[in-house]
Amino acid sequence: MSRIVYVNGAYLPEEEAKISVFDRGFIFGDGIYEVSAVIGGKLVDCEAHLARLERSCGEIRLALPWSKAELVAVHEELIKRNNLDEGGIYLQVSRGAADRDFPFPKDVQPTLVMFTQARNFVNAPGAKTGIKVVSTPDLRWARRDIKSVNLLAPVLAKQFALESGAQEAWLTEDGVVTEGASSTAWIVKGKTLISRPLSNKVLPGITRKAVLAYLAESGFTFEEREFTLEEALDAEEAFITSATSLVMPVTTIDGHTIHNGAPGPTALRLREIYIDYARKGGVLG
Ligand code: PDD
Repeated sequence: MSRIVYVNGAYLPEEEAKISVFDRGFIFGDGIYEVSAVIGGKLVDCEAHLARLERSCGEIRLALPWSKAELVAVHEELIKRNNLDEGGIYLQVSRGAADRDFPFPKDVQPTLVMFTQARNFVNAPGAKTGIKVVSTPDLRWARRDIKSVNLLAPVLAKQFALESGAQEAWLTEDGVVTEGASSTAWIVKGKTLISRPLSNKVLPGITRKAVLAYLAESGFTFEEREFTLEEALDAEEAFITSATSLVMPVTTIDGHTIHNGAPGPTALRLREIYIDYARKGGVLG
């Protein structure tokens, strides 16, 4: 059975869903996206993802004609129509379709596309074995805080990871790890979690925010600072967070073994707490 996807107000079988070849998301990458997790049929922190969507759209001056409540309703309807128990919901909004010209077109409606992807997030194989990470230079633009659909640099980084036998790439700039190609990067020292401060160099992760929200209860402290690749290679533990990996232990970086090549207790504990939290739908506004 094919998926039911959402395109500009209509729920359609995926084979019938179409957008214009002039869509600016396609032509210019002039659009924003979000990925929210669904666990046990429940949306995880959808409100927070939509708040980030609003912010990203504001930063590129794309006026969203839909309220948050309307967008949550489309998410819920897609879960229902696709019987989705676990996986992701992808949302993309572009500045709409108009003849190719760089400046913003006038009187054009944004294009909204949403679809589900069924995936096993909770029992992902990497949760038991840990994942491998390779580093690669961060080739992205200067506004990585905007969740733009311009993903060529992360596509190349992920392909490099795949061809290197790894599952994620850590992007580096002047020796410092900025973030994963599609995740937030963390290292651990004793009871302290280390991840870099938010700025226009990284995407403000919703999973990062959730992990920090339950930090006190988890017994860990947070040191918000940059870390170098060199420091990461020497870390007691490393892990990534994202809507699709949740909290995922990292067991090698550039072939160097982290935590003797086994998932560390901190990452595993945070993952456990996060999954419990996610099953309740999350609480971030
Ligand atoms: N990526 N940093 C980058 C560059 C990302 O693309 C993502 C998410 C994150 C983590 O954000 P969050 O915790 O809100 O998922 C950090 C999504 C999952 C993707 O592109 O598929």
